[in-house]
Amino acid sequence: MINILAISGSLKSTSSNTAIIKAIAGLSPANVQISLYEGLGDLPHFSPDIDGGKSAESVVHFRKLLQEAQGIIICTPEYAFGMPGVLKNALDWTVSSGELTGKPAAAISASPLYSGGENAHASLMLTLKALSSKVAEKSQLQIPSVYGKFDPEGNVSDEKTKQSLIIVIDSLLQTIENQ
Ligand SMILES: Cc1cc2nc3c(=O)[nH]c(=O)nc-3n(C[C@H](O)[C@H](O)[C@H](O)COP(=O)(O)O)c2cc1C
Repeated sequence: MINILAISGSLKSTSSNTAIIKAIAGLSPANVQISLYEGLGDLPHFSPDIDGGKSAESVVHFRKLLQEAQGIIICTPEYAFGMPGVLKNALDWTVSSGELTGKPAAAISASPLYSGGENAHASLMLTLKALSSKVAEKSQLQIPSVYGKFDPEGNVSDEKTKQSLIIVIDSLLQTIENQ
């Protein structure tokens, strides 16, 4: 079984990014387990003062999930031309501990606008570069006009988007295989 941790950058209960993760889980091969990380909002604000020695339990748990995953998928909205603070905060917690170093990753952004969250995507890619994660070109996707393309259960109504997601999954699995 290939174990992949998926992180939605949105805490919204009706998030389209979380729906995309559910869609990806439904489109993945049977030997792939995609687990949605649900603790993003519980992580404390990062500070070096509370890192190291005795980190919060939520941080220890997050780092363990990342360690155990063979790959990660991040699916994020754009807030004020960047990735949401909660997502950046979570990624900052991995800088000193290095769970994402060399880790195969897929980077997806989605927006109701035609831009597909391109600024959030760019900021996510910059951070993943800083963390030395492995993001293949085909593991990157920006989904424009997202409203109406997914239902809350993760069913995809737009065939082009569905095919794009399948390419992302295949590419991530390829990166994992080549590790
Ligand atoms: C505080 C805030 C800032 C936003 N800024 C942007 C933005 O800069 N670019 C954009 O495309 N959408 C922006 N949006 C709209 C989001 O793309 C939209 O709410 C989207 O549905 C969020 O994703 P979610 O459904 O996964 O929560 C913003 C929304 C909020 C609440």
